[in-house]
Amino acid sequence: MSKPNLIRAADPSAIQEAAKILKGGGLVGLPTETVYGLAANAADDKAVARLYAAKGRPSFNPLISHVFSAAAAWEIAAPTPLARKLADAFWPGPLTLVLARRVDAQISDLACAGLDTIAIRVPSHPTAQTLLTEFGGPIVAPSANPSGQLSPTTAAHVASGLGDKIDLILDGGPCEAGLESTVVDAQGDGPVLLRPGALPRGDMEAIVGSLKTPVSSAGDTPTSPGMLLKHYAPDAALRINAETPRAGEAFLAFGSTTIETPYNLSPAGDLVEAAANLFAMLRDLDARYNQIAVARIPSEGLGEAINDRLTRAAER
Ligand code: TXA
Ligand code: MG
Repeated sequence: MSKPNLIRAADPSAIQEAAKILKGGGLVGLPTETVYGLAANAADDKAVARLYAAKGRPSFNPLISHVFSAAAAWEIAAPTPLARKLADAFWPGPLTLVLARRVDAQISDLACAGLDTIAIRVPSHPTAQTLLTEFGGPIVAPSANPSGQLSPTTAAHVASGLGDKIDLILDGGPCEAGLESTVVDAQGDGPVLLRPGALPRGDMEAIVGSLKTPVSSAGDTPTSPGMLLKHYAPDAALRINAETPRAGEAFLAFGSTTIETPYNLSPAGDLVEAAANLFAMLRDLDARYNQIAVARIPSEGLGEAINDRLTRAAER
């Protein structure tokens, strides 16, 4: 935990170093106006896989892409009139919009957990703004805490939870909000509140009218944010924990194998590499085959999250 210079005051030279670390695939603790984020290059599957591994998440929740401006946001997501209104009123600031992702967006499939939608926000914190300018592209940043622990609001919190797993923490002082951003689905005509957060509902309702709160299809009990998510579901039938492919099945291998297939999540048996390849390979296989067999993936480390997604994709 006591790496020298792990925490640096967020001055221009430290921010430059942070941009360099992100370009090299590393992880940076980043102050925002809500909570400290664990930042990685949103376009880099491998960096995003390292980020999930550092947080120790048992599943791949899709991440928020942070961009410098609304114009930058509309390059990766298709804005609706509703989204433009909310962005005009509240960006930069603690509002995240979920929108359809552009097909040509240079965003890691893993960061979006394989979904066709993307969550985006423009943070207002000066350090986040400067880093986004310096880095020059979208940055994913979930709260910088190990999975299941409280979100960090100081650089010291980040160091105590993740200090041995990250390269640099930019110290921008305590966070103003201390609460994550509000997440709103703005794909349709009416806004849907997916996660209450630092931007109060009333502020938005004054501008776009009442916010819907999603209810579970089962009835009237509101579902938790995690439950609201649509998960990646292939059209092809998926069989997991397969030893060998059956007739008609394409095979997605893991580790060294004698089975001939162009698809191997990680020939070296590296789970970080496997996570980085997971969604891109599944998409490719799904486009070409109707039946996919997937090799057994060990359940340690990122393997737990990989198996979580594979199990959901196989159940449909
Ligand atoms: O304040 C914040 O938003 C902080 C700071 C660091 O910016 N970040 C943060 O990120 O809280 P994270 O990854 O912990 O939260 C992402 C939230 C989750 O609730 C996730 O389910 C939702 O956004 N989300 C992401 N992509 C989504 C999508 N395509 N559809 C629906 N919800 C999505
Ligand atoms: Mg969190």
